[in-house]
Amino acid sequence: MRLEEASVPEELVQFFRAKGISELYPPQEQAIRAGLLDGKSLVVASPTASGKTLLALLAAYRKVKEQRRKVVYLAPLRALASEKYAEFSEMTRFGIYTNISTGDYDSSGESLGRADVIVLTNERFDSVMRHRVSWLNSVGLFIADEVHLAGNDSRGPTLEMILTKALHLGLDAQLLALSATISNVRTLAEWLHAIPVELDWRPVPLREGVYDYNRILFTDGEERQVPRSTYGAPIDVAMGTVKEGGQALVFANTRRRAVSLATKAAELTQRQLSPEEKKAASEASRRILTSGEETSLSRLLAEVVAKGSAFHHAGLEAEHRRIVEDYYRARALKLLAATPTLAAGINLPARRVVIADMTRYDAEHGGNAEISVLEYRQMAGRAGRPQYDDHGETVIIPPQSAPSADFLEHYTKEPPEPIQSRLSDESAMRSHTLATVATGSGTSKADLDSLFGKTLLAMQVGAKETGRLTEKALGYLLGERLLESHGNLFYATEFGRRVSMLYIDPVTGVMFRDSVRHAEPGRKYTAGMLHLIAASPDFEPKFPLRSKDYDQAMAFLEEHSPEMLERHTSRTFADYDRVLQDMRSVMALHGWIDEWREEQLLSRLGVEPGDMHRAVDNADWLLHSLGELAKLFKMPEMVRQAETLRMRVASGVSEELVELTTLQGVGRVRARALYTAGFRTLEDIEEAPADRLALVDKVGAAVAKKIKEQVSKH
Ligand SMILES: Nc1ncnc2c1ncn2[C@@H]1O[C@H](COP(=O)(O)OP(=O)(O)OP(=O)(O)O)[C@@H](O)[C@H]1O
Ligand SMILES: [Mg+2]
Repeated sequence: MRLEEASVPEELVQFFRAKGISELYPPQEQAIRAGLLDGKSLVVASPTASGKTLLALLAAYRKVKEQRRKVVYLAPLRALASEKYAEFSEMTRFGIYTNISTGDYDSSGESLGRADVIVLTNERFDSVMRHRVSWLNSVGLFIADEVHLAGNDSRGPTLEMILTKALHLGLDAQLLALSATISNVRTLAEWLHAIPVELDWRPVPLREGVYDYNRILFTDGEERQVPRSTYGAPIDVAMGTVKEGGQALVFANTRRRAVSLATKAAELTQRQLSPEEKKAASEASRRILTSGEETSLSRLLAEVVAKGSAFHHAGLEAEHRRIVEDYYRARALKLLAATPTLAAGINLPARRVVIADMTRYDAEHGGNAEISVLEYRQMAGRAGRPQYDDHGETVIIPPQSAPSADFLEHYTKEPPEPIQSRLSDESAMRSHTLATVATGSGTSKADLDSLFGKTLLAMQVGAKETGRLTEKALGYLLGERLLESHGNLFYATEFGRRVSMLYIDPVTGVMFRDSVRHAEPGRKYTAGMLHLIAASPDFEPKFPLRSKDYDQAMAFLEEHSPEMLERHTSRTFADYDRVLQDMRSVMALHGWIDEWREEQLLSRLGVEPGDMHRAVDNADWLLHSLGELAKLFKMPEMVRQAETLRMRVASGVSEELVELTTLQGVGRVRARALYTAGFRTLEDIEEAPADRLALVDKVGAAVAKKIKEQVSKH
């Protein structure tokens, strides 16, 4: 079917034609026939790269232009949200405005409503709903991308609840749920009152194979020889494609493994670069060295990148990850070794995907477990994206002991595991029960049962079991005085309401409350507050104590024991050990505010820059929450301490530099340089002539001018 025939407006037809899209892909046609443009709710399950985003754009256009209603686009990850934000923003030319919000949970999000399309992460939308924004009532279309994540242990419950609430709002809104990997489409469709649309069709043929000694066996019966080298099977298989002019994406199960694969492969890819590619790779390498702080990790990355390979994982600085993605897309990098987070919905070229490890560490059961079919499909689907390659291949490297053919059969023939609700998780039930009561004005158990009765959980385990789980959550929330009851109605206390708005786990809220209450006036609690947030269930990423950290952790705890908050001073050995377990996170945060360089955090504590930045963002939010609760419990001294600490964490500085870092363009490094040169306060800066400031190390004329402008406004 051509776009014109689908009654798509002419300007949109032109818009897509300019991108080389004029004919609809079969799953797109099927979705349109099922009523996508007539406002019907759909669950679309079609393979990776089969063009689900186009459906989202078409439906959004219609909703905004013809019905004057808003569109909410939900993405599970920030990177994916940014990619979709860019795609929707192209519709600005039609007068359709797009906005994005992926953080800052305590802000209301009211102003987002100025846009027509609002792109959010699932968590941010949950927080926006808790703030009861007024624009919610004008939403006419919810798009849930990568909806299989509803079955994810940690992130699933939030997605499940926001979709349930969207249904429950009574908006008569359309819902478009998208995924490449759902096998129980009918169940999902029934839950979401939607029509299932399912078609196993790919724009670019994908061949799946498995490595077996010195050849690849493909499902279509073909065999391909792979010359064996000392580099190992994953690299041998990946290089086969690189030598033919393609690019390879290698998935590894740990960061260390990704680094080692890329480092080894670089020796080979450097011989495959054309002069232009070599130039581009060196440019990428230089950009890595000149952006962000230099660490042994960034030096290694730069070295590998110059040779046409790269590794990609969450320990890298965001900016370095972006450089790697950009240059890989531009084909200057031939081989990318990544951890599986990269697999989630992002468009990257790969003629061949190599899955180097079919097992993954499983914290729940301890030890390695085989990956799921769903995970395999997500990774395999990165091969052969239509805008980059005309065919794709995925090759599994099986564990040495496993018979190859069986492996291939299992992963390519079995359907992905059905999506199972994870909402029964206690912490999820507590949070969402609290949020529901806190946004209502008097909620009965029947109200709760009616809402939770519409969840996927209720469909899968029954209303009775779901009712028992909310009962249990209510018990906790009443016991800890986050909720109170009058007659047969539940209300949130001021404390409960604040916890819900701050978007913290009720358990975190209770920990914060109990600790600040015991704080004594006139004492300093820097390490104690860092420990409090690091020990809370909301802190991530956690840095678990390694055996080599014990001595350092015990010494740290001893030195800082006067700063610990009373509740956490250890009485028994078990208590002491529990406190110690969080000490690596505490030491990392403490090192950060003591102005340790990223290299020091890496060499002393093994904390990688990407993780440190995430921990800092997270600590910023938790310290804000701690300060807000201290305010509520009338502990002004703790409010002040939490606020100062938050500013120190945000910039990574000692207390004496906090004032200087309020200036735009002055981070931890420049603030230290200014301070050392004798400019210690904003007043010092105001009095100093610009040319003297310009002489300070790392400052220079441009920055000096910029900071002078700011102080003269004070
Ligand atoms: N009808 C079409 N004709 C040509 N190209 C198309 C068509 N529809 C979509 N495409 C292109 O296909 C590519 C992949 O589409 P998209 O990102 O929407 O995949 P997806 O189905 O969301 O996959 P995933 O499950 O991996 O997220 C995009 O570059 C898009 O421009
Ligand atoms: Mg997609």
